[in-house]
Amino acid sequence: LKEQPLRCKTCLITAGPTHEAIDPVRYIGNHSTGKMGMAIAMDLANRGAEVTLIIGPTSLTGEHDLIQRIDVTSAQEMYDAVHKHISGKDYAVFSAAVADYKPAIPAGQKIKKSSDTLTLELVKNPDILASVGVMENRPFLVGFALETENEIEHAFAKAKKKNTDLLILNSMNDEGAGFGTDTNKITMIDKNGNSEKFPVKSKQLVAKDIVDEIVKRTS
Ligand code: C5P
Repeated sequence: LKEQPLRCKTCLITAGPTHEAIDPVRYIGNHSTGKMGMAIAMDLANRGAEVTLIIGPTSLTGEHDLIQRIDVTSAQEMYDAVHKHISGKDYAVFSAAVADYKPAIPAGQKIKKSSDTLTLELVKNPDILASVGVMENRPFLVGFALETENEIEHAFAKAKKKNTDLLILNSMNDEGAGFGTDTNKITMIDKNGNSEKFPVKSKQLVAKDIVDEIVKRTS
């Protein structure tokens, strides 16, 4: 019989990119694939936890009896789905690469090519992680940060600002880390400024390290 140490635990995970409509056929997006979030969802489910996976547009498949997958497109849809499902969860892991800005008013019809320049007005999306960080009775909260300079310092500031219990830093300066790859290299940072660096590993093994740390810090 396989061990199920996290049986009875409930988790919410966000993963993948978001797409922000410019018009009915175009969007603003990013290169996130959702692989890291999917790997965390699988690891938690394999240990017996019940997982709600809220995932942006991706071709990723991956099924598990204990994973309820909710597909969303935009940051606003992801925000709505998170707030519909967050209540009562034990852990929440925010690995989605949410678009910071969206077109202020998506065009109702396909924008025609005419003048030589085109200006789009963008407005800020809600910060989903920060909105959960201020909740009373919030779950144990894990966020991600992708930084390109003064990484530890910026990540620590982010951990405090968003009130995460654990922040996973991916550096853009590291080979084998980041979007689309099957490997990742992370540093874990907590609110007290403690940090721990990990070597390059497959996203499955990184997921295991993250879930081990969550379990260690909540038991
Ligand atoms: O501020 P920044 O985008 O670098 O923060 C990254 C972290 O915040 C990630 O955990 C990401 O999933 C989360 N986030 C979010 N909603 C946003 C922007 C980021 O949940 N609008």
